[in-house]
Amino acid sequence: MERSPLTDSQRLIVVSNRVAVPKARGAAGAQGGLAGALNAALKQHEGVWFGWSGEDGAGETGNVTTYDDDGVTIATIDLSEQDVGEYYNGYANATLWPLFHYRLDLARFERETGKGYERVNESFAEHVAPFIGEDDLVWVHDYHLLPLGERLRSRGFGNRIGFFLHTPWPPSRLLVSLPYHERLVRTMLHYDLIGFQTGEWLSSFLHYCREELGAQVDEGTGRIDFEGRTTTARAYPIGIDWDQFSALGETGEARQAAQRVLSSTRRRIAMIGVDRLDYSKGLPERLDGISRFFDRRPESVRDLVFIQIAPPSREDVESYQEIRAELERKAGHINGAQSEVDMVPVRYVNRGYGHAELHGFFRASKIGLVTPLRDGMNLVAKEYVAAQDPEDPGVLVLSRFAGAAAQLDCDGSGAVLVNPHSPDDLAHAIGTALDMPLAERRRRYEAMIGTVRDDNVQAWTANFLGDLRCTRPV
Ligand code: G6P
Repeated sequence: MERSPLTDSQRLIVVSNRVAVPKARGAAGAQGGLAGALNAALKQHEGVWFGWSGEDGAGETGNVTTYDDDGVTIATIDLSEQDVGEYYNGYANATLWPLFHYRLDLARFERETGKGYERVNESFAEHVAPFIGEDDLVWVHDYHLLPLGERLRSRGFGNRIGFFLHTPWPPSRLLVSLPYHERLVRTMLHYDLIGFQTGEWLSSFLHYCREELGAQVDEGTGRIDFEGRTTTARAYPIGIDWDQFSALGETGEARQAAQRVLSSTRRRIAMIGVDRLDYSKGLPERLDGISRFFDRRPESVRDLVFIQIAPPSREDVESYQEIRAELERKAGHINGAQSEVDMVPVRYVNRGYGHAELHGFFRASKIGLVTPLRDGMNLVAKEYVAAQDPEDPGVLVLSRFAGAAAQLDCDGSGAVLVNPHSPDDLAHAIGTALDMPLAERRRRYEAMIGTVRDDNVQAWTANFLGDLRCTRPV
């Protein structure tokens, strides 16, 4: 157990849209990075985790339910149907999410949803306020709650308040297409500490603060001075819960899951992808790459089976319905063109699995395809590596546009990096992975495993909270 960065009297108050409780819709899904990461973080510090109950249309906004989960107080707030529509499906997931993932073509800019977003942030502030003690550290998460720190300040909270963005932060040229972008970023400068997944997102943020807001920015330390306040912005790449995830490999559930893959693929090599069904994950592009690979190497069709696990996500948002239909069409097309009576090359599974089963699936798959078009970090990439047999590891094919690439490229000797937009590049990388000799697979695994193991979620939490505590005297 790492030493806690908090003093005895300080509790940790985490605020995020999702909380990992079984009652909250989708929160326990193993594919969402945030839920798993925070669960591990809160186990270390007796504190409070506040978020949306996940129930939509639950009457009026504001009903808060609390209960104890192993020493952690879980508090969930209900949101009205209108608030879920405007804040979650609207501004968060149809405006900010596409914009932050460089998909301006999918971003919708509606005045009403922007108002709903501000209203829900105000409700969060109002209802989390009674849980916050004088000395407590407050840690706000993700794009749903960018203005929450400012809302808390306006209620008189002088606590140290930190914010972590799990998604990318877009370049200023994209961000300025958001109406009221300046107002939004100004609210963020009420946080004491802002964390990003990578140096790339961090420098886009610092660039915006300097060029668009005219803030005084020290690129070296990440210190931003603006209108009499100081905020520090830094990169804190998130990791997996290494101990917990590795231990899952020893379970019967993981072994059985691995066996299910091995016995059903027989002599064929399993190649796996596990992603929320989201356009940022590059799933249609991935299928195009696989199709190109089969066209180029028809003799390999019998050697390979691709398993894509893609649980549906944010189904009330139109762009998510479209991506689902597109994927079904593409998977059907490849299978129609390449299947034999005894062999189907693509297994497309529209449901989620628990972490133990995923561990087994990863271990039994000799190629892991993680090819998002843009991704804050992508913990599936790290889990895939963590699940490998060190004696006979599989190959990670990773998008250069995932935050994880900054850590797992390992100067060209870790993951096989690809441009996910290029079917040729993907096809080539699949061929490289399939043909890779054992000695090289081991070398690449060895290059990656250190950072996957050591830069874990506990280290991430300790680094962020340690820095938050030192941001300024209170
Ligand atoms: C990403 C976001 C998280 C979110 C997760 C699942 O990882 O950064 O904040 O919880 O996706 O999406 P959902 O909309 O189901 O919470």
